[in-house]
Amino acid sequence: MLSEETVQEIRAALNRYPRPRSAVLDALRAVQRQYGYCHPEGIKEAAEIMGLDPNALQMLVTFYDMLYDHPVGEHILMPCKNIACFLRGSDQMIEYLSKKLGIKPGETTPDGTFTLQPMECLAACDLAPMMIADGAYHGPLTEERIDEILAKLAASPRYRGEPAPEGGASRV
Ligand code: FES
Repeated sequence: MLSEETVQEIRAALNRYPRPRSAVLDALRAVQRQYGYCHPEGIKEAAEIMGLDPNALQMLVTFYDMLYDHPVGEHILMPCKNIACFLRGSDQMIEYLSKKLGIKPGETTPDGTFTLQPMECLAACDLAPMMIADGAYHGPLTEERIDEILAKLAASPRYRGEPAPEGGASRV
């Protein structure tokens, strides 16, 4: 069941836009913040509040990489695999992350702490090779920098889609 806080977030989103459909992404982010992913029951309730067909919300969950239709880890690691990062060693960084976490790209660690989700260009090519970890930009990555990031995240509370504390950017 949606929490009062989530319901309020959805209502606030509805007030921000002229049409309910425009508030769908904000509503889905609110549902994801509560459950850790876009739980079907949460989507159904959000659709009711918005006066929309639940399928209109569900369609967007399957379209956007940053919305999840299944449980994911407490911390989301999104290393970029696109060309600028690739030319500067993203493959090795992703391989290092995989090895260190004991999972393949796309998987979540068995303890539910980390999800490794390589992405296409994240529009921060000047940081190549880079990744977004819990909403913060990190790069250029090295194995040492990855070790530091993982240690810090492992000691942090679950990421719920809040903006990065440093305003979104951190550099080695
Ligand atoms: S190619 Fe990696 S951020 Fe653009």
